[in-house]
Amino acid sequence: MTRSRLFCLLVILVSVFMILFIIVYWDNVGTTNFNVHTSFSKSILAQSNEERPTTAPTVENNVASDVDEFLDIFLNFGSTKGFFQSTKTENLQLRGSNSQEEIVRGYDWSTKGKLDDGILDQEIQEERKLNLRKFCANSSFDFPTKERSFDDIPNRELDHLIVDDRHGIIYCYVPKVACTNWKRVMIVLSESLLDKKGVPYQEPLQIPREDVHNTSSHLTFNKFWRRYGKFSRHMMKIKLKKYTKFLFVRDPFVRLISAFRSKFELENENFYRSFAVPILTRYSNRTNVPTSVGEAFSSGMKPSFSQFIQYLLDEKTEEQKPFNEHWRQIYRLCHPCQIEYDFVGKLESLDEDAALLLRQLNIDSLFQFPPSYRNKTASSWEEDWFSKLPLSWRQKLYKLYEADFVLFGYPKPDNLLRV
Ligand SMILES: *[C@@H]1O[C@H](CO)[C@@H](O)[C@H](O)[C@H]1NC(C)=O
Ligand SMILES: *[C@@H]1O[C@H](CO)[C@@H](O)[C@H](O)[C@H]1NC(C)=O
Ligand SMILES: *[C@@H]1O[C@H](CO)[C@@H](O)[C@H](O)[C@H]1NC(C)=O
Ligand SMILES: *[C@@H]1O[C@H](CO)[C@@H](O)[C@H](O)[C@H]1NC(C)=O
Repeated sequence: MTRSRLFCLLVILVSVFMILFIIVYWDNVGTTNFNVHTSFSKSILAQSNEERPTTAPTVENNVASDVDEFLDIFLNFGSTKGFFQSTKTENLQLRGSNSQEEIVRGYDWSTKGKLDDGILDQEIQEERKLNLRKFCANSSFDFPTKERSFDDIPNRELDHLIVDDRHGIIYCYVPKVACTNWKRVMIVLSESLLDKKGVPYQEPLQIPREDVHNTSSHLTFNKFWRRYGKFSRHMMKIKLKKYTKFLFVRDPFVRLISAFRSKFELENENFYRSFAVPILTRYSNRTNVPTSVGEAFSSGMKPSFSQFIQYLLDEKTEEQKPFNEHWRQIYRLCHPCQIEYDFVGKLESLDEDAALLLRQLNIDSLFQFPPSYRNKTASSWEEDWFSKLPLSWRQKLYKLYEADFVLFGYPKPDNLLRV
């Protein structure tokens, strides 16, 4: 009698332990070692890179919501141990649940000067977020994909959301908006990349550039299905709720100039083959376009800015393939109406915004945001570059990027849009 009871108890305990073990294993393996996990999930799941269905049968849904709740508690438990700056970062985990914490979080009350700056910058933040909410809710302001829900966003479109589970941070990277440096910061924070000695990088600027942009250096939302299987959307939602989410934006037209300068004015074999060749073939009168960028540059053949814009405006372009991330609209990369960002930084005020963000994340003692010495595209160039284009093109181009202008509070460039 007592023996069989004891046995029952033992079986239950072992089962509970196994369940916990499996979950811990799943979570840890994914965080610490992508490679082990990739092979693990390959054999177990034997799935292609396809997106998983988001709607599961009812039974599974019930199970899922239980697991959801459980993971929720588990995640809270796990995060208290994971933080290495326990006292300073404690506030981070509380975000979302308590608005008072939200306001207090991240302020260095000990320094008067910092505080004054902080309040002003914080007000600017509130304005930007309010502006986003206002236009996302405004039904007379419309743009493609605006009305879809988070669940409707395909996995492949979530590839710009980089997650750091160690500090609870999600960064949506927008190319041509200081994204190299923010990616460096994310790598250091999440310890997702090891240097030659096998130690996680501590210093953002020591990470080689090619590693910064290698997608395997980052955990992004579109990779969640590998780690969490059918719970991946649930995990995304938990993390979106709990973590601090930020992005950096830039004047959309200036971003286009910047993209053009870095991808077409500098020799870049990949961009030459994938984009310059079709642009030159379609919009210049040349019959034989060189196949390599070296050849093209030595014969002085580069797409002009006007041909680049023509390519963007051509309906054929988007029919063949979605815009490359360097010129894809920010709203299509970061889904600002589906994801409620906690921080909207702007390249135009990068230094102030970066300082405030690092303070808010309580990581300002770890490092400063790396300064950028590259030849920056200045906003004042906009007039120069765009006024040479036909007016109808400028107007069409504005329509194409209007959502980015409006959502992120960039004034309509009226001087470029009137005769
Ligand atoms: C909603 O959007 C329309 C079109 O952009 C704009 O004219 C209107 O002022 C907006 N309404 C509010 C309340 O912001
Ligand atoms: C990205 O990193 C992975 C793993 O370190 C490596 O195998 C791959 O070759 C890299 N890809 C590029 C394009 O460098
Ligand atoms: C291309 O060639 C056609 C006819 O050969 C000519 O009318 C047109 O002006 C040319 N366009 C450019 C941009 O050179
Ligand atoms: C910066 O870029 C502009 C335009 O591409 C170029 O004229 C200028 O020489 C560059 N400056 C430096 C320091 O590279």
